[in-house]
Amino acid sequence: MAANKKILVLPGDGIGPEVMGQVRRVVDWFAKHRAVGFDLNEGLCGGAALDKHGTPLTDETMADAMDADAVLFGSVGGPKWDDLPFEKKPERGLLRLRKEMDLFANLRPAVVFDPLVGASSLKPEIVQGLDLLIIRELTGGVYFGEPRGIETLPDGTKRGFDTQVYTTPEIERVADVAFDLARKRRNKVTSVEKANVMHSGVLWRQTVTDLHAAKHKDVELGHMYADNCAMQLVRWPKQFDVIVTDNLFGDMLSDCAAMLTGSLGMLPSASLGAPDATGRRRALYEPVHGSAPDIAGKGIANPLAELMSYSMMLRYSFDLAEDADLVDQAISKVLAEGKRTADIAEAGATTVSTGQMGDAILDALDRLGR
Ligand code: IPM
Ligand code: MG
Repeated sequence: MAANKKILVLPGDGIGPEVMGQVRRVVDWFAKHRAVGFDLNEGLCGGAALDKHGTPLTDETMADAMDADAVLFGSVGGPKWDDLPFEKKPERGLLRLRKEMDLFANLRPAVVFDPLVGASSLKPEIVQGLDLLIIRELTGGVYFGEPRGIETLPDGTKRGFDTQVYTTPEIERVADVAFDLARKRRNKVTSVEKANVMHSGVLWRQTVTDLHAAKHKDVELGHMYADNCAMQLVRWPKQFDVIVTDNLFGDMLSDCAAMLTGSLGMLPSASLGAPDATGRRRALYEPVHGSAPDIAGKGIANPLAELMSYSMMLRYSFDLAEDADLVDQAISKVLAEGKRTADIAEAGATTVSTGQMGDAILDALDRLGR
């Protein structure tokens, strides 16, 4: 590569720094053996930023994120900060990044690795070979809709309210991403909403239908209500290729899809903005798992979702498919050789620590080639 690309690394809280530590070893390996050089700049986000600066994301870190070629994110939050007022919560740091970077398309693949078929709580034949992609709208809907708040009514009781709102362009741009990605896969999109009870759902379905007729007729399109989709995901997940849905349904359905793979510790994600005139798009990569306060500090967290997030970064932000494939192959190899962190281990199996999983990945990379 020409000038080094700039990566902002935000490990965050809980297990975030632990899993990121292993990914940084892999980043170093690529710099050394594959000449994939990045300028890494590390910053604080979430509770870590709050403790140091009194805000979950400083304006400087926000500016660094806007300036970076990609952001590699860990996880935020923890019981220590649970009782803070809404605007100070660690999660606000992440939501601000998503909103101000305009990362409207959140790609959450759920892929079942063959050796992990037994780690899923579903029967092997239901999940074996599963490969689906949830595309979650990430900058709209009830997460950001106005008005929102808690007010006191004249009789002294309170009323809490949020607004679910979507515009045609917001729906179109995320659906475009879904159709485009489906073409590179099995060519099928399922659009998910609650058009039976929500106006925003009616508009969502209509807009996706119109867009499909106008631009994407070559892709198979189906519609599904969100509750049915949750049920279908555990009944027969292999019916899906690409699912496109709003911010809140995407949040819930992606947790559900994650468990099909055996563990939340196996799910990466990419959050992408619109390409500018030069084709560059803002992007943030993060594991779907959160900060997991219950296991933080114990050195047992699974670093693979963070590592797959790095692989997605190589693929989507830097067009380094060969290097991304190498990361993915190292992961498959290590799993095939039986290495398991506790979250993906079957009962009674021996497990490795976060650091040992990192060791195994580096060893596999060495063996796979440079
Ligand atoms: C996710 C998380 C976040 C969300 C939280 C941490 C704000 O659950 O990325 O799925 O709700 O979007
Ligand atoms: Mg979530």
